[in-house]
Amino acid sequence: MSNSEKAKGEVRYRTVEDIPGVGPATAEKLKKMGYSTVESLATASLKELTQFLGEKTAYAIITEARKHVISVPFMRADEYMRIRRSVEKLTTGSVKLDELLGGGVETQAITEVYGEFGSGKSQICHQLCVTVQLPREKGGLDGGALYIDTENSFRPERIVQIAKRYSLDPEKVLKRIVYAEALTADHQMYLLDNADTQLKEHNVRLIIIDSLVAHFRSEYVGREMLAERQQKLEKHLHRLVRLARAFNAVAFITNQVMAKPNSFFSDIEPAGGHILAHTSHTRVFLRKSPQPGIKIARLVVSPTLPEGKECLFKITENGIEDVETEKK
Ligand code: GTP
Ligand code: MG
Repeated sequence: MSNSEKAKGEVRYRTVEDIPGVGPATAEKLKKMGYSTVESLATASLKELTQFLGEKTAYAIITEARKHVISVPFMRADEYMRIRRSVEKLTTGSVKLDELLGGGVETQAITEVYGEFGSGKSQICHQLCVTVQLPREKGGLDGGALYIDTENSFRPERIVQIAKRYSLDPEKVLKRIVYAEALTADHQMYLLDNADTQLKEHNVRLIIIDSLVAHFRSEYVGREMLAERQQKLEKHLHRLVRLARAFNAVAFITNQVMAKPNSFFSDIEPAGGHILAHTSHTRVFLRKSPQPGIKIARLVVSPTLPEGKECLFKITENGIEDVETEKK
């Protein structure tokens, strides 16, 4: 049994078919909907399942899955505290950036980095794909990564470089990263909706979407499409946060900054509108410093940490590193 399973209590149902009332036909339907694991069923919504199943059956299946994967919805604060303890932190490779994030990037929640081109968003994604594979004593989660790429940003060669920094076998590191290129917004949603078997099979503890809103912004243009775009984004984000909880994984998304001067938002606001602001738990704004290779991170929103703090980090051959503190 993995540590994440232990943290959630006993898991009795290994597969969806083990749940009472789920026969082969129902299992097949559930799979088509993207629910191939007990973990993902435990965080499914009744509304989604009743599109294909009767309400009674759907309710029974979700209830059973929840019994064995996550705790009951009402709980005492001490029980909640125990669940919170299963939240883990993943190192970014920079001590200062980890400190800014309260010890690293948290599992079971979404962390969003936004900033202009070249501010280091995709570089942090690459870095995390390697550090997630490190053992816990080195700041990792001893797991794999899923990289959903919308802008053709993923570079395996970069992974190889960063793996060498940690004396890891680059071939092995690459094998633990599941890569998927999202071609359209709908395809991006489809990939995440069907990710659960991959997550389980590869013990994925880091889900990256780089970038979250690029396709949505280019496909849903104009005011009349805004409502539909936001609705889809909301669904996508809910799926993401539920997977992050079910698999005790880090959800890490990148976002562009709005460049339109006459929009609702000023030009340094992240794209995606209020839905993203409400769902995104931790938001970090990245910008370039005048010194080459050095970037500035600012904690803009955090549920638990002081906001507005900043730190420096640099991007080198080794990935994300601390800037050496210069002597005064
Ligand atoms: P967009 O996706 O275009 O919005 O930008 P981004 O924020 O994702 O930028 P990205 O993470 O790609 O960061 C680009 C920065 O990383 C640039 O300053 C590059 O110089 C630096 N960088 C990328 N690859 C390497 C590398 O192999 N070595 C070094 N030293 N720096 C690199
Ligand atoms: Mg990028």
